[in-house]
Amino acid sequence: MTQQPMIVIELQSLRAWVANEHSKGATVALVPTMGALHEGHLDLVRLAKSKADRVVVSIFVNPRQFAPHEDFDRYPRQLSADVERLGQGAADLIWSPSTAEMYPAGFATRIEVGGAALGLETDFRPHFFGGVATVCCKLFSQVMPDIAIFGEKDYQQLTVLKQMVRDLNLPLEIVGAPTRREADGLALSSRNAYLSAEERAIAPILHRALEASAAGIRSGTDTDAATKAASAAVMLAGFAKVDYIAARDAVTLGPPQLGHPLRILAAAWLGKTRLIDNIGVA
Ligand code: PAF
Repeated sequence: MTQQPMIVIELQSLRAWVANEHSKGATVALVPTMGALHEGHLDLVRLAKSKADRVVVSIFVNPRQFAPHEDFDRYPRQLSADVERLGQGAADLIWSPSTAEMYPAGFATRIEVGGAALGLETDFRPHFFGGVATVCCKLFSQVMPDIAIFGEKDYQQLTVLKQMVRDLNLPLEIVGAPTRREADGLALSSRNAYLSAEERAIAPILHRALEASAAGIRSGTDTDAATKAASAAVMLAGFAKVDYIAARDAVTLGPPQLGHPLRILAAAWLGKTRLIDNIGVA
């Protein structure tokens, strides 16, 4: 019988719990999620547990990071299965606020992000990082964690949040965790549940194309040629559309700089499902 984490839905109770832990000298890690938890999220929880005494996992499907035409309504919601999984993953508390608790009537503030947020996802989802930054800023001030863990799967998100914490002097450290993959290379994502059997068989091509592109750059292929070849490979495999496959400076997400590490980032549509992934080029 595994111990279940405590579920908290009111800010006052959350604050009291965290204050009590901090008063005992315990450190607190936050793992922000939108639920529909998979092994990738549990990796984040395990990393959090290795870095702090207590782990809070937030579960909140944030309406402010979805455009009206996106999948907010059909985004998978499965709180009891998530609670069950977190019992096995060593979370101490689940912060599961309602939309009214997070965005009470009259809420009118939004964080505006630039720098690492420019281009890539923003070219296709212009509302996205403002919504993510706003909810994460709120989560940070609600939980007041010492560290917060985010997956490298959403590499631009991770970079934008590091920048926000730096720019606003927020008193916590942002830690990135490696992407968990299926045996065939597909990055774990809650949205993989949307894929048909046929699409699921094609999906790992995205990772393979990024690997080939990274290998090409390492052996001297020009970054543009290498990323174009990756786009051509995924289209040939049956993807419907490539939003971008681009090489960027791994730290700033600006244009590649000679002698700096690179990251190749990708977003592509397989049928009606949008997959994102990325890979480092050392
Ligand atoms: O990566 C996610 O699941 C979300 O963007 C996050 C960070 C939980 C904010 O809603």
